[in-house]
Parts: sequence; C-alpha cells; structure tokens
Amino acid sequence: MEAAQRVHKGLEGVYVLESSLCLIDTEHGKLYYVGYDVEELAEKSSYEEVSYLLLNGRLPRRSEFEAFLTKLRSEMELTPEEKRDVQYAAKRTGPMDALAAFYLFASKDPPQAKDQMEHAIKAVAKAGSVLGNTIRVQRGEEPIESQPELGIAGNLIYLVTSKRPEQYQVEFLDDILILHAEHGVPASTFGAVVTASTLSDVYSSIVTGLMTLKGPLHGGAAEAAYYQFVEIGDPDRVESWLERTLAEKRRVMGFGHRVYKIYDPRAKYVKAMAARAAELAGGRVKTLYEIAVRLEQAAIEKLSSRGLFPNVDFWTPIVYTAIGIPPGYFTAVFAVSRVVGWVAHVLEYWKDNRLIRPLHLYTGPEPGQRYVPIEARG
Ligand code: CMC
Repeated sequence: MEAAQRVHKGLEGVYVLESSLCLIDTEHGKLYYVGYDVEELAEKSSYEEVSYLLLNGRLPRRSEFEAFLTKLRSEMELTPEEKRDVQYAAKRTGPMDALAAFYLFASKDPPQAKDQMEHAIKAVAKAGSVLGNTIRVQRGEEPIESQPELGIAGNLIYLVTSKRPEQYQVEFLDDILILHAEHGVPASTFGAVVTASTLSDVYSSIVTGLMTLKGPLHGGAAEAAYYQFVEIGDPDRVESWLERTLAEKRRVMGFGHRVYKIYDPRAKYVKAMAARAAELAGGRVKTLYEIAVRLEQAAIEKLSSRGLFPNVDFWTPIVYTAIGIPPGYFTAVFAVSRVVGWVAHVLEYWKDNRLIRPLHLYTGPEPGQRYVPIEARG
C-alpha cells in the first residue's frame, strides 16, 4: 500500500483544519482558549465572557461586553412557540435529542439570509433555557420563564430546581461550562464542521455536533462514570471492582483520552471542585467523591503506564450531583456549553470554506461481478 493510501483509523494524528480557537498542550497538560489558560478563565471569567472570546477571537471591552450580554439575555427567554417545540420534543425523546430537535426547528427558516453572528448568539443563549425546560417537562412539570439576570449557569440551575441557586452552585456550573466550551476538533466538532463545509447552516451544524457528542466514548462518559461509581457503591469495593472490570476487558469510564496521555488539565480543575462539592453537599455526593478518589488511585496504578489518566468526565458527575443536575442530563449540560465551541469553529471555517470530502480505500469484491437475477439465485 502506498503511503498516500494509508487509512488513518479514527483519524488519529491527522490535522483536518487550522484554528486559532484553542491550543491543547499535551506535553505540559495545559489548555488555552485563544491564548488564555483555561484554568485562569474558569477562576476569573464567566461563561458569557468566554463565549464572546471564542466567537470574536478576543476579550471584549466593557461596552462591547455589555452589548453582547444584552443581546444574549434577550435571547435566553423562549418564545411561546419555542416553549411548545420544547414540550413536544421533550415528551417524545431523550435530552440530547430534544436539544437537537430545538435546533432542527430553528433551522427551518433559511438562516443563511441573516447575519451569522446573530444566529450564533441566539444558539448559545437558548441552549440552557431549552435544556432546563426539557428537564422540567420530562419530570412532568410545565416550562417556566427564564431568569436571564442569573446568567446562563444560574438560569439553568433555576429552571432545574425552581429555586434561586446558591452562589457556590452557580460558580461550579459556570466553571464547568467554561471548561467544556471548546476543545479543538473532537468527533462532535469535526462533525459540526463537516456539516458546515457543505454550506449548510449554523443550527444544522449544532444538530450534528449534538448527535455526535451523545456517544459514551465522547460526551456520554460523565454519565457512564456516574453509573460506574454507583455500581461500585462503596469505597471498599473499588479494588475488587477494578480487578474484575479490567479482567473482563471493560473500560474505566472517565479514564483515557485520545490527545492527553497525561492528566487532563480540566480534570485537575474539576477534581478540586469535586472535593469542595463533597464538603459542601455531604451525603451521597461525599460517598461518590470517596469512591472516585479511591478508584482514581487504583486505576492510575494499573493504567498510567499506558498513558491512561482521569479525563474531565471522571470528576464532573460529582459536581453535577451537588448542583442538582439528574444523571441522565450530564451529557446535555456538556452540550449546552459546547454549542459555543461548535459555532465558533463553524464561523471560523466559513472564512475559508472548502467542502470536506475524504477518500476511502476500497476493500470489496473485484469489480465486474456478474449480476444474477434474484429468481436465479436460489
Ligand atoms: N479503561 C481501560 N482501558 C482503556 C481505557 C479505559 N478507560 N481507554 C483506553 N483503554 C485501552 C484500550 O482497551 C486499548 O487497549 P488495547 O491496546 O489493549 O486494545 C488501549 O487503551 C487504546 O484504546 P483506544 O480505544 O484505541 O484509544 P483511543 O485513543 O481511541 O481512546 C477513549 C480514547 C477516550 C475513547 C478511551 O480512552 C475510552 O474509551 N475511555 C473511556 C471513555 C471516556 O472516558 N471518554 C471520555 C473522553 S474525554 C471527554 C471528551 O473530550 O469527549
């Protein structure tokens, strides 16, 4: 086989585009958005400001940020028609599909006609309101009005719990949204860009991103990690569970990453949050944390020589549980955050668009097979 004809399974090691949005420093375990250390952004910035950064390629001046916030907040409220759409989808599908259905409905007007940045801001602003009301409807409750002044994180918790959130809960979720906002070209972002490269629209790209993020090897890992902690049930059972899991060739969910062969910097940050969440919330959250700490240690002993360490999804289930997000919705919270990453990539890709159309290496039967009519095939 010629070098040019080699298939790069899983596209590992293949560069598919240029981007100025994020740098993953795999050697030092650091992540930067447009040059800013994501840990510093999580500490000092807000999800809204990070959204501006990703969509515009720089931090806003105060007046620019105020104008952006006004626009964003005005879009956080769902129109009566949008609320009906959410109710319709939430009653018939799972949370990721309900989010996708919302963007599918949004793509029915030809979005190419409008300013793409308008669509981008709308897409980012609506996500949390759609998810919060989807959770309500799926629990048998009615959608309620958003509280835009609480911000995207605070409003999502408000919609889920029907209560004004505690400050620490808002800070936790805001940090998690920042840490998940962008990560180069994982499967979901690549999918979104492939869709955009056909000159389809922003909303359709988000639908592709959502449906690709859903799988347990990508965004679904936090939920899988949660159920794994529940299955273990007690810190004292960690070692025997791990022994069995590895013997059965099952994976430790929330461990391993295609690009990080050392500790994921997001996981490091969220681990510290999980410790604080366990202190503050106690009870079940504390037990989950204790199981996770012991599993981390045992699994690192067994797996680190193969470059397998905790990724961000190992620790987020503990923080989500402390905030009051039900386990079936962890992936959807990740999605709410990543909408801005997908959209930022789409807008960036369109500046120099080229249809994405790779090749396949044919491995089927020799050409020229004789067609035998079905009656003669026996
Ligand atoms: N537990 C045990 N073994 C593992 C794990 C794990 N979590 N991850 C990889 N391995 C082993 C795997 O069995 C394989 O072994 P062998 O060579 O003996 O067959 C080897 O490591 C390479 O695995 P791979 O699937 O070829 O590696 P990849 O780079 O394609 O996989 C991954 C990356 C994230 C899909 C994988 O590590 C995994 O399945 N992890 C668990 C799921 C998970 O936590 N996903 C979240 C990813 S981070 C969030 C995000 O950015 O989306």
